Amino acid sequence: LPDGLAPTPPLGFNNWNATQCGPGFTEEMVKATADLFVSRGLRDAGYRYVNVDDCWALPTRGPDGNLRPDPARFPGGIKAVADYVHAKGLKFGIYTSAGTRTCSDSGFPGALGHEQQDADLFASWGVDYLKYDNCHNQGVDARQRYRTMRDALRRTGRPIVFSLCEWGHNRPWEWASDTGHLWRTTGDITDTWDRTVAIYEENVLLDQYASPGNWNDPDMLEVGNGGMTPTEYRSHFSLWSIMAAPLLIGTDLRAADAGTFEILTNRDVLAVDQDVLGVQGRRIRSADGVDVIVKPLAGGDKAVALFNKNADEATVETSLSEIGFGPGAYRLTDLWSKEARTTTGGISASVPGHGTVLYRVTRTSVAKPPAAGVHDLSKLTPQSITNGFGPVEV
Ligand code: GLA
Repeated sequence: LPDGLAPTPPLGFNNWNATQCGPGFTEEMVKATADLFVSRGLRDAGYRYVNVDDCWALPTRGPDGNLRPDPARFPGGIKAVADYVHAKGLKFGIYTSAGTRTCSDSGFPGALGHEQQDADLFASWGVDYLKYDNCHNQGVDARQRYRTMRDALRRTGRPIVFSLCEWGHNRPWEWASDTGHLWRTTGDITDTWDRTVAIYEENVLLDQYASPGNWNDPDMLEVGNGGMTPTEYRSHFSLWSIMAAPLLIGTDLRAADAGTFEILTNRDVLAVDQDVLGVQGRRIRSADGVDVIVKPLAGGDKAVALFNKNADEATVETSLSEIGFGPGAYRLTDLWSKEARTTTGGISASVPGHGTVLYRVTRTSVAKPPAAGVHDLSKLTPQSITNGFGPVEV
């Protein structure tokens, strides 16, 4: 939706990947996550949304037809949790389904046929973000179901980010730009390398459909959940960022180790995800288990991911011209190691198995003056020449 609510991909948290509907999903967890967003620098790094997923409700609606929070998980109710999150300078999100029941095995009431009532209730609680799932949809056309909720949310008058979760079944990237701010492109992620790569392979093909307010959503992060190595989690985070994916932390931050926080708060990588041009990186090369993905950034830089899907180390190579840069000297900054070097041609790295090297590429000099009449170079001083990130060397 081009309404300014999600000009860059949403950043936040959702409990699903950490707890599913287990006993760990409680208001205590949600509040503690908001606390940690502040105390561990996640809010300062840009994370905003603290979202709850399925299983927050009771199995039946109340006498007035309203959804009711499960008092075992949310003894204080949802509004109190939303207020708590808001008091930390953060935003609060909730979940329901565009069907008669939600997706968990037990199934909680869905919003099909109750769209306005549920939207009004969410707005009255101070909800800022709705993840809208697709289970038990009775075969009603997806566009119709998602547009009905979009309109219901609008009528509340409250700005609410609208996340479509129909797993790419109805190719939402082709029709949902006027319906939601983000749409899932695949089935659910799991905390495994194979599933993470499979999702990447689907989502990476959809770059042309992403733009500010319209994000492909390859599902929430598994970083920190223990099923992958640190190298694999850095790849997951790098790939999601270069694909301009929404980044919803999916681990219990109360139990997260320093390495997990280090990945999630890597500001250079987050800046790639959050770049204001809002372009999803494009895969420009894929052969022998190695991929090269390029994302243009505001100010003229580009991010380049060198992704090695193989189990063994591999050299991944591209070049300035292949990523669309003209002649000149460019600085390659490795956004994980922070090492920088200069190139006038080749871009390559030895990448560990399942690893991703992520570079920001910045022009530091022009190779030759532009054609006469284009610029009067004599009027330029080093300070007057910028690339959007400050003066550049000429
Ligand atoms: C679906 C969604 C998941 C999660 C569960 C909850 O599977 O795709 O992200 O919300 O439902 O039941």
